[in-house]
Amino acid sequence: MTTITAAHAAYIVAALLFVLSLAGLSQHRTSRSGIVWGITGMVIALTATVGLASRTVTGTGLVLTAVAMALGAGIGLWRARVVEMTGMPELIAVMHSLVGLAAALVGWNGYLDVEGAGGHAGQQLTGSLLRIHHAEVFIGVFIGGVTFTGSVVAYLKLSARIRSSPLMLPGRHALNLGALAASAVLTIAFVTRPHPALLVAVAVVALALGAHLVASIGGGDMPVVVSMLNSYSGWAAAASGFLLDNDLLIVTGALVGSSGAYLSYIMCKAMNRSFLSVIAGGFGVQAVAGEDGDHGEHREVSAQDTAELLRDASSVVITPGYGMAVAQAQYPVAELARKLRERGVEVRFGIHPVAGRLPGHMNVLLAEANVPYDIVLEMDEINDDFAASSVVLVIGANDTVNPAAAEDPASPIAGMPVLHVWEAADVIVFKRSMATGYAGVQNPLFFRENTQMLFGDAKQRVEDILRSLDATDAPTPVMAGANG
Ligand code: TAP
Repeated sequence: MTTITAAHAAYIVAALLFVLSLAGLSQHRTSRSGIVWGITGMVIALTATVGLASRTVTGTGLVLTAVAMALGAGIGLWRARVVEMTGMPELIAVMHSLVGLAAALVGWNGYLDVEGAGGHAGQQLTGSLLRIHHAEVFIGVFIGGVTFTGSVVAYLKLSARIRSSPLMLPGRHALNLGALAASAVLTIAFVTRPHPALLVAVAVVALALGAHLVASIGGGDMPVVVSMLNSYSGWAAAASGFLLDNDLLIVTGALVGSSGAYLSYIMCKAMNRSFLSVIAGGFGVQAVAGEDGDHGEHREVSAQDTAELLRDASSVVITPGYGMAVAQAQYPVAELARKLRERGVEVRFGIHPVAGRLPGHMNVLLAEANVPYDIVLEMDEINDDFAASSVVLVIGANDTVNPAAAEDPASPIAGMPVLHVWEAADVIVFKRSMATGYAGVQNPLFFRENTQMLFGDAKQRVEDILRSLDATDAPTPVMAGANG
């Protein structure tokens, strides 16, 4: 009895710490303390859960639990230490898939424990409580299954193991709706008369639905998918909490589920997408990603000529993207900004909400390189100023500066707000080739008259520009023997 009361008190403390953690993580300044709150809450939660389990679980069970926890903690620590910043979304997708798989397995376990043939615990549940249990099992397996395969496909897309363009099966919306309707019918049948074949059927439908939902979403819309799967994984955990009769899991799952849903909503607004069509999968994309129209010729520029252009500029805007993260170019870019500002040039950064591969990815890199916060502006704050800017440096960005999103209704990224870099007097694009960006869509910006391509690794090219600026700044050596 004392163990139960202590464990439940610990659960309340842990739940409060998780709320504090979320609050802390919502701002740069407080994010470190947010992480500490979260770790403390998780340690308390795990200790309390093991304490509760020790009342009923045998010695072997506890040893197995300890081994599983040690393995999990070891793998988690190792992955978190070695993961590149650019690989974070993939890691998150893998974690979501594990939550989904765990929820589906907990659902199956709940079935075996209660409804299944040898179900000893089933005798304790009767009437409506038993039917509620049937529904919990079914919902857990369904949400877990959708989250599992959805996250696996998201991982494959994010890590470029499969193409990021949308899978356009004929009648895909009907397929999704059919899968949802089939699950509802199966749920009613299972609640009325539980049978393992029904559980197998819903597991198959859920696995197929999760894979199809994410496969039919285009690359440019993946950020919303990642946050949506984050939300699904929270609801999957909450469903497991009901099955395991664990209040903390219900509260934590609901926190993750609702904060993920809110993040998806914010992202949908930022990217001008309908929240409902995200949940339904597919966003109503009509065009085929990666279509190559005839955009004309592009022009190339050298680092030296770019340095000349910057020397004469009065205002420069730098719009970084995923390529800056790949090249780790943030340090020379910060140095370039500092040098230009010293010369009296107005320098600002324009950050697209989904630039890179993580929310806030560019802000983190620029903060790492000590770029002052006050010159780092959000897309809405800078978009009206491009027309009055002398030069825009597009450092490894592509989809986020694609005018097709604003001008071509047939484009797969049509409607997504983008940085209006093409309105500036001169645009220099830093990238290694004419390859498309993450969404697999060609970028007409590269072929505009005021755009020039500076090919090569972004870090090396920015360093070349810095050297050119330094060379012209250096005092001209006095010739030996010159007498004026
Ligand atoms: P992207 O459209 O991904 O384009 C990045 C560009 O960087 C590529 O075209 C690539 O061209 C260039 N690049 C790569 N390595 C480089 C290097 N070492 N040096 C120079 N250039 C390099 O970038 P973006 O504009 O940031 O857009 C982000 C995309 O990712 C959006 O479609 C967004 O929806 C999606 N996404 C975002 C998130 C979040 S939350 N931010 C999550 C998942 C997906 P080359 O190969 O020719 O060099």
